[in-house]
Amino acid sequence: MSAIGSYIEQHRQRFVEELADLLRFPSISTDPAHASDVRRCAEWLLEHLSSLAPQRVELFPTAGHPIVYAVWEGPAGTPTVLIYGHYDVQPADPLELWDSPPFEPTVRDGRIYARGATDNKGQFFAHVKAIEAVLRTHKQLPLTLKLLLEGEEEIGSPNLRPFIEQHRDLLACDAVLISDTALYRDDLPTLCYGLRGLCYLEVTVRTAATDLHSGVFGGVVDNPILVLAHLLDRLRDGYGRVTVPGFYDCVADPSAEERQRLAELPFDAEELRRHIGAPLLFGEVGYSVLERRWLRPTFDVHGIVGGFTGSGAKTVLPATASAKLSFRLVPYQRADDIAAAVTATLRALSPPTASVEIRLLHGADPVLISPDTPPMRAAARALERVFGRPPVFVREGGTIPVVGWFTELLHVPVVLMGFGLETEGAHAPNEHFHLKNFIRATLTSATFFHEYAHGEGAIS
Ligand code: BES
Ligand code: MN
Repeated sequence: MSAIGSYIEQHRQRFVEELADLLRFPSISTDPAHASDVRRCAEWLLEHLSSLAPQRVELFPTAGHPIVYAVWEGPAGTPTVLIYGHYDVQPADPLELWDSPPFEPTVRDGRIYARGATDNKGQFFAHVKAIEAVLRTHKQLPLTLKLLLEGEEEIGSPNLRPFIEQHRDLLACDAVLISDTALYRDDLPTLCYGLRGLCYLEVTVRTAATDLHSGVFGGVVDNPILVLAHLLDRLRDGYGRVTVPGFYDCVADPSAEERQRLAELPFDAEELRRHIGAPLLFGEVGYSVLERRWLRPTFDVHGIVGGFTGSGAKTVLPATASAKLSFRLVPYQRADDIAAAVTATLRALSPPTASVEIRLLHGADPVLISPDTPPMRAAARALERVFGRPPVFVREGGTIPVVGWFTELLHVPVVLMGFGLETEGAHAPNEHFHLKNFIRATLTSATFFHEYAHGEGAIS
């Protein structure tokens, strides 16, 4: 592997410059105003991958943003790995909280700052650079590699499931590898075996056909903001538990072994509290912080709008108010079932003075994957070679919708081998990626190709 290691070291500066080029595209999937930036980003990737001489490289249009796909054939008889990543990013606002502009990548203190640096451009680009390093030093990859980069992960991957269903042959593989999670700590190599799911809803309350004078009509028309506040407040109790009937029916209790393993991970709740800047941590009574983040479901409200919020005072009786809310789900909850249960609960709680509209924006089921599959073991060996110690196994609280679909539709094991850090500001201002981890990810990826191709007990 040392030829690959020295190639990566030698070309490190250029790798970082290319990553900066990729980060310059404001590929914000949720914002229609950026649709052409998303497309240009996909085209840049197509160009870039073409320079690595794949047997096939293509942009697939979807009803939304395009999918980038490429294949490098390995020697006959070797396994096929499908690497997934997403080139779309979250919106960058509020812009004034960034120390440098989100789409002008800047290197400071060994970190590259830009929206998408850790989530997920820096992480999947490490695999691209690993492909380059192996091809330039060994002429051929030791296995067949397929690359699937989507532009809609941050909006719930609305077009990916049908794409997988229609292109099973294109995506056929023995294992899927994804780097879109985190290292548990810097220097602690990490493999993730569980992600939470998500059920994301929008609730709109209407109490009149139009805004009204609150002096003239106040007292005879209900207030939509108060109705909405009441509805939201009724969805959880004072113990941090969701009050939707049936919500916990399918929630698996953490096993004694898993509780024990989580308790053994180095963890300092006070350090976390300080990092977040919360006066006191919150959460469901009876569970540790890591349990609450990884294996318990939650309810959150993301935004609420209604009425007059300008400067000064306006005596309006608003006609509508709305909120965006979501539930993080854990095995064996199903997003569709939870959406139905929440909808029924909100309907039952709605007063006859208001009409309440509930829309499901997106859903993804939670996943639990076996930590003991051939590609997982190969990933563990690769991590140990690069980091000098074996990985820790964790679950995480975030959601990657496609993981469940790969399992369900392709029937192959998935490996979640992330190199981000949860302190890197994903979805927040000043997002960054540690360049040290970008390089380690590149080396680990190349090592993984070798370890998985040659199997247990191979001589490197
Ligand atoms: N990279 C994250 C997923 C993630 C976050 C995994 C934290 C593990 C820990 C991904 O890009 C993401 O943000 N996903 C969204 C999914 C949603 C929009 C369907 C999420 O979790 O909110
Ligand atoms: Mn994300």
